This record gives sequence, C-alpha cells and structure tokens, in this order.
Amino acid sequence: MLGAVIHNVHEIAAEVIRKTGKDKPADAALREVLKQIKDLAPFDATEVAKTVFLYYRWHVWLREERGVEAKMRFAIRLNQRFQADSTSVPYSELRANAVPAWTAEEMEVTDQWLLSLQREPKLWLRAKRGTGEALARTLFAADVSPLVPDALLYRGEEDLFKTPEFHAGEFEIQDIASQVVGMLCAPQPGEAWWDTCAGEGGKTLHLSDLMQNKGMLWASDRAEWRLTKLKRRAGRAKVFNYRSAFWDGGTKLPTKTKFDGVLVDAPCSGIGTWQRNPQARWTTTPNDVRELSEIQKKLLGNVVPNIKPGGKLIFSVCTLTRAETTEVVEAFNAKFAAEFEPMIFPEMKFDGRTVENASQVMVWPDDLGGNGMFIAGWRRRKV
Ligand SMILES: C[S@@+](CC[C@H](N)C(=O)[O-])C[C@H]1O[C@@H](n2cnc3c(N)ncnc32)[C@H](O)[C@@H]1O
Repeated sequence: MLGAVIHNVHEIAAEVIRKTGKDKPADAALREVLKQIKDLAPFDATEVAKTVFLYYRWHVWLREERGVEAKMRFAIRLNQRFQADSTSVPYSELRANAVPAWTAEEMEVTDQWLLSLQREPKLWLRAKRGTGEALARTLFAADVSPLVPDALLYRGEEDLFKTPEFHAGEFEIQDIASQVVGMLCAPQPGEAWWDTCAGEGGKTLHLSDLMQNKGMLWASDRAEWRLTKLKRRAGRAKVFNYRSAFWDGGTKLPTKTKFDGVLVDAPCSGIGTWQRNPQARWTTTPNDVRELSEIQKKLLGNVVPNIKPGGKLIFSVCTLTRAETTEVVEAFNAKFAAEFEPMIFPEMKFDGRTVENASQVMVWPDDLGGNGMFIAGWRRRKV
C-alpha cells in the first residue's frame, strides 16, 4: 500500500486511554482520537476499540503495572488467557476485581454475570421484520438467533456502516436484549404509540417496523441533539409514521393524545452494558442508582394521563439493580394499582430457561448473549 501511513494500533489505544478520564468516557476519547486519523483502516479502528475496552475490563488487575503501555500489554495477556480458558481466573478474583464492591449491595452478583462481564461483547443486528434469514444470507458472517425474531449475530469483520444493506435501511445495529423490549411492546399496525425516552431512536425504529410503518408513533426526549440523530436514522430506515417532540420528563406532556402504548425506556445506571462499556464500572456510583431510580418513578407516573383504557405501559432499563427495577415496579403498583394491572408477557425462551406468566423480566447477559435488561409491563384497566 504505497503512500499509506502505518499506524500502530497499540500506540493509538494508549493515546485514547490517556485522554480518558472522569470528564471524558472512553468511547468519547476513542471517537476524538479516531477522528483525527484519516487513513486508519476500519479493521485497525476496531482493534483500537477492542484494546481500549479490554484495558478497562481488566482495570483492577493492572494496578501493579507502571505506565499505560505496560498495563495495556498485561491486560492483553490476561485477556488472551481468559478468552482461551475462563477458569484461568477464579470466581473469587472476578468477584473482587471485575466490579466495584458496592454492586453486591444493589443487585444479585452471580458467577455467571461476572464471567459474562469479562467476555468480548457480541455484535447484534436487527433485520427488518421478516427478513432475518435473507439478510444472514447476503451478509454471510451472520447467524439468525433462534430466540428473537430477526436478530442476527454478526461474526464478520466488514465495516457494516459501509455496506449497501445498511445504507438501504435493511438493518440496524441493536443489542439483542434491546430487541426484546420492542418484541414485548408488540405494537400493532394502525395503533398510536409513544416512545417517551427515544434518544437516538433504537427502539423507535423497531416499534415502527413492527407497526409496518402504519399508525402513529411519537418519539420524545429531553436531548434534542439525540432526536436530530434519530431523524437521520429514520430517513435511512424509511420510517414515515413518527413525529418527534421535546419532553423534559415533567408533567407538561408534549401531546394530549391517548396512546395504545407508551414505552418508558428510562435513563439508568447502565450496569447491564458493563461488558460493552467497562469503564463505566469505575465511574458509576450508588448515588447514581438512587437518583436514577427516583427519575424512573417520576417518568412512569408522569406519562399515565396519556394511556388509553386497555392501553399498555412498558418500562425498560439496561440495568440490574433492585432500586431501578423491582423497586420501581413496586412503587408504581403502590400508587396506581386502581388504574393499572400487570400485563402478562408472552412466553419467552432464553438460552437455558423459559420465562412464563411474567409481567416483569430480568434479562441476564447469559440469557441471550447480549446486555442485561429489565422490562416490566402494565395495562390500563378499562373501568
Ligand atoms: C436509555 S436512553 C434511551 C435509549 C433509546 N430509547 C434507544 O433505544 O436508543 C434514555 C434516554 O432518556 C433521556 N432522558 C434522560 N433523562 C430524561 C428525563 N428526565 N426526561 C426525559 N428523557 C430523559 C436521555 O436523553 C436518553 O436519550
């Protein structure tokens, strides 16, 4: 490759790590550094990202090493050994080093969860409704999940954002547990839905696809820049049945519409994404958990006036703490039992277990090979 600059992946990763700090998460530092290197091959950019994230995954094990480069080399070795043989790290060591001690106070810390946190995360795609098999054939290195319709596990090395299928809106990159949220919302064509914390629209696009682009879908957020990103994504995915609106989460709602379904995919501590986003293990605090739990309770209570009799309310968070999951459900039930009853979800088959007759489900990384996620549902009583 004449004229091409040879970049050292590890040097770039070390630069990202040096830029990462309290005010700059690793993913932001990664974007900043990669943006400055114009001729980095996509494969190398992926390797830089992997190296940065594995560094934070093994963070506590590295404390005896001096300097970022030495720590990084040690992390790479530890990681290689663990990926080849997960018993090379005893559970007691995982329990002491993989997560901060306070997690044991806030959630059930299982051996399986700790193991999952040290593994490389999987890349999941969501194909348009009913097209999973066909997309797997065109992308080659992708397998359809037997558990979640149209979810594909991507094993290839291609830059998916550059594929014609991505530009044609044939798939989105979306974690499999997030896809379960849309699946359990199960919106029908022609209905009216409100995705209250839509962000960049991962779940909005899924809801629209399930609605076959028919009916009405409101997408709101308090971060307008996120809704701008959603607009771009919606154009590519050819989503026409949505409108976006600002909502700060307060009692002043963006519309008087009564909806068939409202999704509150609430801000949370994100502990369910710690495999993908390991630096957050060392920046999240128990205080965040408390504050976010209160915000979640408030958001759920505030959307109540906009749900039709018989309409659904779905609450989801990509976290596993009691304060942000079961306690939020209990608080909602204590306040709204006269108006809402728990909604029984259809049976779900996970890897190694079946969830039946549940109105709330904790999806563990082991269940599907994706993020941890909690989902609860209610229906507004008709009388
Ligand atoms: C978990 S993220 C949403 C992810 C999105 N649903 C998706 O699937 O891509 C939570 C969103 O809630 C928004 N948010 C945070 N605090 C809020 C509040 N008090 N009121 C409304 N939205 C809020 C954030 O801006 C963020 O976009």
